[in-house]
Amino acid sequence: MKTYKVGVVGLGHGGSHVRLTHEYLEQTECTVICDVNEERLQNTAGELDIGKTTTHYADLLSDPDLDILCICSPCHIHGQMVLAALDAGKHVMVETPMENESLERLWKIITMAERRHLKVQMDCPDRWIPESVKMKQLIDDGQVGEIYYVICEYLQDIRQQGGGGLMKKEGFRMGYGVKAQESVSAGAGIYAVDTARWFLGEDFTEVFAYGNRKNLPSRNVDDHDVALFRTASGAIARVQCSKAARRPYKEITKSVWGTKGTIESTGYLPAPPDSTGLYGCLVEDGAGPKPYTGPYEMRPIEVPPVPIPEWITEEMVRKVGHGGVEFFSWMDLIHSIENDCMSEINVYEAARTCAGAVAVKESKVAHRPISIPQIADRHDEMKPLYPLPYGEASSAEL
Ligand SMILES: NC(=O)c1ccc[n+]([C@@H]2O[C@H](COP(=O)([O-])OP(=O)(O)OC[C@H]3O[C@@H](n4cnc5c(N)ncnc54)[C@H](O)[C@@H]3O)[C@@H](O)[C@H]2O)c1
Repeated sequence: MKTYKVGVVGLGHGGSHVRLTHEYLEQTECTVICDVNEERLQNTAGELDIGKTTTHYADLLSDPDLDILCICSPCHIHGQMVLAALDAGKHVMVETPMENESLERLWKIITMAERRHLKVQMDCPDRWIPESVKMKQLIDDGQVGEIYYVICEYLQDIRQQGGGGLMKKEGFRMGYGVKAQESVSAGAGIYAVDTARWFLGEDFTEVFAYGNRKNLPSRNVDDHDVALFRTASGAIARVQCSKAARRPYKEITKSVWGTKGTIESTGYLPAPPDSTGLYGCLVEDGAGPKPYTGPYEMRPIEVPPVPIPEWITEEMVRKVGHGGVEFFSWMDLIHSIENDCMSEINVYEAARTCAGAVAVKESKVAHRPISIPQIADRHDEMKPLYPLPYGEASSAEL
């Protein structure tokens, strides 16, 4: 079995990826870590016993031993780092978003992944979270009918979350001297956009978005965003994200409205003891034990746990976070590399979600709806063409 050598950049949440790839996942070994914060770099290296450290991302790019770069730096520099990693011939695992600054760079990322025949995974835990998986199953089984409306919300208050720790991440959450983290178009806002698109099973064609900054006026971006996406069939998704909502923290609230019923995941953490937090009013089939007889009511829906492989212990899940779903993201990326197939949130999937995020920002500035480009899967179509005659050409020539 090949051991993939991994380099991780950005050691906040990136520390979880270091642990997962270095200590837990058999097919990977984290050999180098990178952070501009020297103290954080040395602390992580010491705690997780990583041999090589650097404060220069370029050292990861030029390291011939590295197979995969894992990008966990602040959101606004992800795109540059992803493009450079692909240019250097490395597969990529990237925290959300893959790119949220420029549509032009998004196309370059796709083209470079194709040129170099490399795999990308955008780490969006929501695609493996049990409630989401169950909701997607109900949708795909046709139990919700034709979907006409989806709501996804991610609500946090960085003044409180992490004991107020997120407020101290002045580097990018607050935006002192650099770009602050946007609400819908960055971080976990991207999960909400991605999940809405995934549930709809259709790509967005247009978005109209508004934002305001009444809670954290000193930030240089809005702390509250509302975006209305539309698809070719006329379905609508409302994605709403807040960085400073005066209400309890919620993982993504998800609500899917279809011609046969409605399903809703409350997103409250922890979920109420008597339920999984997933409810449905499914008129024809009934998600509950008995057929639906009315009147309309939301009934609890059973959610099976994520089928985590036996070798993943409770301690690993606790230390890595997200109920262990981060493992799926990595296992899926490795599988896509070994079998030359597309991962769950491969470069095309990530690009569709990120194109929506870029359009949200544009709409807020332009005060009008913005078209979202359609992005086709070209992975299988490109396969017989390899090696591409221009495969070695650099990103500067794109
Ligand atoms: N999947 C999740 O649940 C989850 C949770 C938290 C954060 N995130 C994502 O992870 C990313 C990082 O967020 P965070 O909370 O860990 O932030 P953070 O500020 O704690 O960590 C970012 C790190 O990147 C370093 N850094 C900044 N610029 C750099 C550069 N040019 N080269 C090398 N290192 C650089 C900083 O010094 C810092 O240590 C964001 O995209 C965020 O959305 C994901």
